[in-house]
Amino acid sequence: MTSFRKPRKIVITGGAGFIGSNLVYHWCNKYPGDRIIVLDALTYAGNRQTIAPLEEKGNLKFVQGDICDRSLIDELLETESIDTIAHLAAESHVDRSILGPGAFVQTNVVGTFTLLEAFRQRWQKQNQPADYRFLHVSTDEVYGSLELEDPPFTETTPYTPNSPYSASKAGSDHLARAYYHTYGMPTLITNCSNNYGPYHFPEKLIPLMCINILLGKALPVYGDGQNIRDWLYVKDHCRALDTVIHQGTPGETYNIGGNNEVKNIDLVRLLCKLMDELGDELPVSPSEQLITFVKDRPGHDRRYAIDATKIKTELGWTPQVTVEEGLSQTVKWYLQNRDWWKPLLSPEYQNYYQKVYSERSTPV
Ligand code: NAD
Ligand code: DAU
Repeated sequence: MTSFRKPRKIVITGGAGFIGSNLVYHWCNKYPGDRIIVLDALTYAGNRQTIAPLEEKGNLKFVQGDICDRSLIDELLETESIDTIAHLAAESHVDRSILGPGAFVQTNVVGTFTLLEAFRQRWQKQNQPADYRFLHVSTDEVYGSLELEDPPFTETTPYTPNSPYSASKAGSDHLARAYYHTYGMPTLITNCSNNYGPYHFPEKLIPLMCINILLGKALPVYGDGQNIRDWLYVKDHCRALDTVIHQGTPGETYNIGGNNEVKNIDLVRLLCKLMDELGDELPVSPSEQLITFVKDRPGHDRRYAIDATKIKTELGWTPQVTVEEGLSQTVKWYLQNRDWWKPLLSPEYQNYYQKVYSERSTPV
């Protein structure tokens, strides 16, 4: 028996960024009958080229615009008869939030508020349809930092954000939650662990290490390298977001994680090993020689770990890609897609890199 699914008219904000573009590919392939609008400001982290092949298909429209621009969003929701928002647009990098927190408050808090308000107006004008959805995509960083002996974060762990990035995400989570409790608007929140995979911007740990190995540059490991992150392959995250939009209960929060806790130094060593095996003619080999311990990130959270029991038992989602498989795919992707990442190492990016790593240049 085939079950009927009403096609959705969905806005994916941040659809030219890392997770957003992977979600756009997922959605276009799985739901070719849906209308998909990508709303993205194309900041340094957005790359329209990533999703350009999909723009030819006809059911996807790209709109360059800011989520803080209320009149643009009102017009978009109205003219496209939008019933669903998957909200991923954000300033997403912790190191940049330390250098300049203002943009984080503006995009992550004010931008999310603007989208929520615009969606509320549309939803109320349409007599509050029960099948409308606003998915707010968030992070496990809102829960703060764990010690080794602590149990993983659950959906009821108190919020204790430690960086300007996580504080801004926490603020936006609270707004999304409040819109359900105050207005009954069907919002859902997901809090996910560290993603990795294709189209990840070079500033983040995994792409940074892959690219620096290929360029023969130092591999800067913050502090003692013992910090722990839980890693999830981005395509598994996209399947989880799809599941939450279609099956999640409005007003609820779902934690999403890979059940893959790894110490940073072990991860970097594994990437070196994979690059040594898969890459030919590396400038420095074995690439572990490039590992350099540098001064720690201020306020660096020690450990993140996710308890994803709720999404597993209530909605049936579990990750499918093992960390060995996913990392090997990712290393191959960075080896085979130099044309994607090389243009991103722009003078603007080099300037940012200088700023962060000159402050951390003192080896520990
Ligand atoms: P990213 O930095 O790669 O992409 C962000 C996108 O948002 C870019 O395309 C950028 O151009 C766009 N954008 C930024 N400001 C905007 C604005 N004012 N208006 C419109 N577009 C704007 O981020 P990502 O890693 O893909 O993260 C996506 C979302 O998932 C974020 O909300 C982030 O907090 C969350 N998240 C990320 C991870 C992770 O590991 N990367 C994990 C959990 C949650
Ligand atoms: O946990 C989810 C979060 O994961 C998302 O909400 C964020 O958007 C995303 O950027 C990511 O945040 P992190 O700060 O964990 O990711 P990042 O890749 O910056 O760093 C991962 C770990 O590696 C962290 O412990 C810091 C360390 N690190 C990072 C860089 C860039 C280094 O040791 N050296 C580096 O050069």
